[in-house]
Amino acid sequence: MSAAMDHHHHHRTAPGLADGVHLDFGIATAAYQIEGAPTANGKGPSIWDTFTRVDGAVDDASDGSVACGSYPDPTSDLELVADLGVAHYRFSLSWPRIQPDGRGRVEPRGLDYYDRVVDGLLARGTDPMLTLYHWDLPQALEDEGGWLVRSTAEAFADYAAVVHDRLGDRVRTWATLNEPWCSAYLGYGSGRHAPGLTLGGKAHRAAHHLLLGHGMAAERLHAAGADTVGVVLNLTPVWPDSPDAAEVADGVDAIRNRVWLGPLVDGAYDAGTLRVAPELTDPDLVRPGDLELVRGSADWLGVNYYTPARVALASADDEATDPGGDAEAEAFPGVEGARFAPRHPRTAISWEIEPAGLEELLVDTHRRTGLPLVVTENGAACADTTLLPDGSVDDQDRVDYLRTHLGAIDRARDAGADVRTYVVWTLLDNFEWSHGYTQTFGLVGVDRDDLHRTPKASYHWLARTIRERSR
Ligand code: FCB
Repeated sequence: MSAAMDHHHHHRTAPGLADGVHLDFGIATAAYQIEGAPTANGKGPSIWDTFTRVDGAVDDASDGSVACGSYPDPTSDLELVADLGVAHYRFSLSWPRIQPDGRGRVEPRGLDYYDRVVDGLLARGTDPMLTLYHWDLPQALEDEGGWLVRSTAEAFADYAAVVHDRLGDRVRTWATLNEPWCSAYLGYGSGRHAPGLTLGGKAHRAAHHLLLGHGMAAERLHAAGADTVGVVLNLTPVWPDSPDAAEVADGVDAIRNRVWLGPLVDGAYDAGTLRVAPELTDPDLVRPGDLELVRGSADWLGVNYYTPARVALASADDEATDPGGDAEAEAFPGVEGARFAPRHPRTAISWEIEPAGLEELLVDTHRRTGLPLVVTENGAACADTTLLPDGSVDDQDRVDYLRTHLGAIDRARDAGADVRTYVVWTLLDNFEWSHGYTQTFGLVGVDRDDLHRTPKASYHWLARTIRERSR
């Protein structure tokens, strides 16, 4: 108790979500991608600690055990965020730092770290935009079935309440889940993400439990007095590449977009979603009251956008021309015969660059949901090989990407989309999940030997843009 009281000495109120008149800016990170220190101060293992040890799971066989070293010392991150001049820092908490066994016992030293980050942000005038879950499920919960079982949703709500107890006096902007599509369909469908299971349609069960976990957590946070609670989705415009791909594209749209928005907005899965995901008609899974709980539970919606989904019909010789294409289709169980057909130009991770997709997505999503929107992630993986004389990275391709996507947000706002904030992914070159350290999205480079941080041209561009637009 006395530790909590101490914070009132430097208590400040976070600014919270922007009013919507001017577009705010933010910068994002996620716990597993930057923190390192996987066993420090009583932290329990997460599914990413486990998954990264599997042969072939990560392109460069790396893991997050060092990452950017942000847990040993967050000071330089806080300074970089403050100097960038963003209004919001979007970061996530490691659940197994706080509850090593996933439920029950709370590890106060885990919370101490986030306490320090929150105070460090507030002292510098930055709003902490807190994400409770960015994919690092406590391994103990996975051992009991993970997101395939309902008890994980209940444990998530308890964890949310534990965090609010400690940080709720200072944090105003809460997000429950980051990209539950990835947790469900890459985690339990294609196996590209932890826990690495390939269970086909069972992934839909994970999707429902994630939605339910969000709903239960939002209810607890609201009851505890949280100002504003959102959920972050990787929604995407889905464009059939030819007229005959319209039906498979509709299936992709169901699994990427409607499976989330239906319950959140209407309190229901629509008929087309149930056609590709018949698992969601199981009354043992979707119980009375579940969908009502989820409906209206989000005060704002986070939209992560990198690239549109162009959907074509799969053909027999696809395997020859695109050997990896299959794994992507496995992330859409129930949708038969879809192939993804990204065009050029692309970023280093092979994702098509198309800012018009963001404009369309924001306009459509605002119309569909009526909710205030935050672009919670957008950014580019680049080769970062062009150097300035001082050795820093001259990433004009990333600057172009950000500038054109900012333009798309401005146009969407002009067209009536209520977009409050543009949060760029990401502050630091960090552990990019199954790509390890082979893909760099950071505005700041991180030396893999000594973790020294060096801002790139894109960092200076964003700082300048924020300054100029605030005049
Ligand atoms: C998103 C993730 C984020 C990062 C970017 C590139 O799917 O939320 O952690 O990996 O992609």
